[in-house]
Amino acid sequence: MLGNFTYYNPTKLYFGTQSMNGLNEELPKYGKNVLLVYGGGSIKKNGVYERIIKILQSNGKTVYEDGGVMPNPTTDKLREGIERARAARVDLILAVGGGSVCDYAKAVSVSVNCADDPWEKYFIRFEEPDCAIVPVGCVLTMVGTGSEMNGGSVITNREQNLKIGHVFGAEAFPKFSVLDPEITFTIPKYQMVSGIYDIMSHILEQYFSGTDDNTSDYVMEGLLRSLIHSAEIAVENPRDYEARSNLMWIATWALNTFVEKGKTTDWEVHMLGQAVAAYTDATHGMTLAAVSMPYYRRVLPYGLKKFARYAVNVWNVDPNGKTDEQTAREGLDRMEAWMKKIGLVMNLTDLGATPAMLDGIVKSTFVMEGGYKVLTTEEIREILRESY
Ligand code: NZQ
Ligand code: ZN
Repeated sequence: MLGNFTYYNPTKLYFGTQSMNGLNEELPKYGKNVLLVYGGGSIKKNGVYERIIKILQSNGKTVYEDGGVMPNPTTDKLREGIERARAARVDLILAVGGGSVCDYAKAVSVSVNCADDPWEKYFIRFEEPDCAIVPVGCVLTMVGTGSEMNGGSVITNREQNLKIGHVFGAEAFPKFSVLDPEITFTIPKYQMVSGIYDIMSHILEQYFSGTDDNTSDYVMEGLLRSLIHSAEIAVENPRDYEARSNLMWIATWALNTFVEKGKTTDWEVHMLGQAVAAYTDATHGMTLAAVSMPYYRRVLPYGLKKFARYAVNVWNVDPNGKTDEQTAREGLDRMEAWMKKIGLVMNLTDLGATPAMLDGIVKSTFVMEGGYKVLTTEEIREILRESY
């Protein structure tokens, strides 16, 4: 049954091939100094950088740049970005990139006017911002995380081997996001597929919790069916606009706080994946793919009815003449076959994890309580061992 909740999402979206024009509507709302944040250079190769510089100039902005944000952005880079933003006295942070760039921009935005160390304050003590937040806008170039319409910010501390996410409140969401599916055509296939599984994982982390009759679960089944369908088309033809635009829209809705309403939500797959990335720096969606099957097969008995429902409603398993357990397991088998078909990495060894890292990864894995089974340390170790 749905409990009490507040639903509010302040991010304005501009979607489609003309969506970049939305910047001309948004930019006049902010002061002159804009910090343009981007990644390792893909936007310079595909022409996005030039287009944005032109739009910023025609809106009379003074542009300061902060490039080189790496996938899995680090505390060192974050501290550098905060200094740049302070020196530029920025009025707006414009993030142009994928989840890493958007997450990083949010982390800078809540830290510019704050004296505390950002890692300690937000990612260890999980405090909320108590200083003025610099507004963030986002031009999304990579699909998967949902960072374009949420308060999530995931930062990696290499010295401490920790990758931790802080979900900030509505005041730290991007004020606007530009979603042009054509910009995603240049994403390498490895990243595209990783993003597709990130979307699937976000939905499943929210779907596999609770036993009540909840509208969100029906919505998520629809999103999953559309995701599976569009992913297969995009893998065959990455320039299929219809498929790529659907993927972009599903990713946003998978993690913009809508489908979590009334649910406890799990997120254990993400905790395992983040611990793996803390040691390997592997691509986010791939870390999730590598641990998912051992995890789901282990927790299946504790959420049997839901796993059987998932098999029938998402993977078209015929339940006739089968026990719930058989139906549920067949669903996971189909999911696994699909994951292999679209080209996901299915084990940690291929992501650079060595046996010597196992103890550390176990230690870096947070235990969540909202799913069907609260894992023991030994269970975490076994799931990870099975994922190698
Ligand atoms: O750095 P550049 O050169 O731009 O290249 C990037 C990067 O190498 C490339 N890329 C992006 N758009 C492209 C492109 N290449 C060609 N054409 C384009 N249009 O793709 C690579 C990966 O980019 P990244 O931003 O790292 O990918 P993603 O969007 O998957 O973001 C991953 C980060 O987001 C966090 C992850 O943990 C990870 O740190 N997450 C954020 C969440 C949130 N905010 O709610 C939730 C997620 O679960 C996730 O944890
Ligand atoms: Zn994710």
